[in-house]
Amino acid sequence: MKVTVIGTGYVGLPTALVFADLGNDVLCVDKDEAKVAMLRAGQVPIYEPGVEALLRRSLDDGLFKVTPSTDEGMQHGEVVFIAVGTPQGDDGEADLSAVWAVARDIAKYICHYTIIVTKSTVPVGTGDRIEQILVDAAVDRSMFDVVSNPEFLREGTALPDAQHPDRIVIGADNQAAAHKLMELFAPLEAPVIITDRRSSELIKYASNTFLAIKISFINAISRMCEECGADVSAVARGMGSDPRIGNKFLQAGLGWGGSCLPKDVAALNKIAADLGYDFKMLQAADEVNEQQTRHFVQRLSDRIGGFQGKTIGLLGLAFKPNTDDIRDAKSLEIIEMLKAEGATIRAYDPAAAENVRAIHPDITYVNSALETGQDADAIILVTEWNEFKSLDLTRLGQIMRRKLIFDGRRVFTPYQIERAGFEYVTVGAKG
Ligand code: UDX
Repeated sequence: MKVTVIGTGYVGLPTALVFADLGNDVLCVDKDEAKVAMLRAGQVPIYEPGVEALLRRSLDDGLFKVTPSTDEGMQHGEVVFIAVGTPQGDDGEADLSAVWAVARDIAKYICHYTIIVTKSTVPVGTGDRIEQILVDAAVDRSMFDVVSNPEFLREGTALPDAQHPDRIVIGADNQAAAHKLMELFAPLEAPVIITDRRSSELIKYASNTFLAIKISFINAISRMCEECGADVSAVARGMGSDPRIGNKFLQAGLGWGGSCLPKDVAALNKIAADLGYDFKMLQAADEVNEQQTRHFVQRLSDRIGGFQGKTIGLLGLAFKPNTDDIRDAKSLEIIEMLKAEGATIRAYDPAAAENVRAIHPDITYVNSALETGQDADAIILVTEWNEFKSLDLTRLGQIMRRKLIFDGRRVFTPYQIERAGFEYVTVGAKG
């Protein structure tokens, strides 16, 4: 099938590559010419495991091309995916300016019947408005259908998630358009949920915000564990074994960040308010999330007698492992708090350091996990990259001023800690 994907970010690019891998003829459109040049040269502007190898293979196969021209994109695709960013705007509302700009371009260049699909996370009613933009631009109603097909892939595992989705949601008010999309997705052999467009748009927000509530729930329990001597991992294991609850997204830690959960919580809260519903549960989840990092840093501060004149090592800066994305990363909050109180910071991340350096050029970035410990009064583990799990804690302890680890993601085992003789403080346990 001839497929066009507009937007080559964390969602658009992996999605487009998976379509190409399935044998479709894919053209990506991105208005950023530098990005287009990089992709044409087989280079990926983001860190996402496996994407570069698949990009090179798809370029070689001739099934993946990229252009800055929406005109070319519209000539090419029978199905055109909109996968541009919908960041948080004023009042928590999703900023849809990129989506509207694409819709106007589509209206300008549409030249044959096209199924226009929103992949971006968009509020209920966005499909209607896209439709209206085309109608207002005098595009004949028989020339297009607008379908919602939310994307559920996660950063860091974008390719396997896009290749093996749990479900494919197609929100279409026209059965023929839905069937065409089913045909495109058929090789993935995933369950397909066909529904109306508005329900599909809401499914995405409901899913992401439910995940945020789930994490905030276990983080709230973690606060109780710290007071009563229970262990949050044991509690999560016990709860998660009930299939009605499930064991995923019950990992207590510093809270949720990233490009989706925070903005989707804010956006759904705003959508609810606009509909006259005060979504208190969402607001509470957000509050728990805000408190979680502050509370953790406060525990550290109490333990070491304030940060003034102290050196703190940070392990991990990305909002989660296997990505260079630092949008709403907990590391940024922690850096701000530590800087405000006069700490010296030594930070390391395998992929995201340069992104943080652009915001905080005044802290020290080191080249290995071990080096964060040089003369440090404490280490904070912020992101659970795999390489930290096998860090040589004995060597780390030898170069630190005080052998103290604050484990924000519950990565280290009691055995590792005891053997290396560290003081250890973690989320959801006394200490
Ligand atoms: C999320 C959704 O999972 C995905 O379906 C959607 O398409 C995009 O948004 P992503 O933002 O890439 O994906 O990351 P995710 O793995 O969901 O993690 C989000 C945040 O929650 C991270 O900060 C992570 O550290 C945190 N998290 C996740 C926890 O604190 N505990 C958990 O148990 C799981």
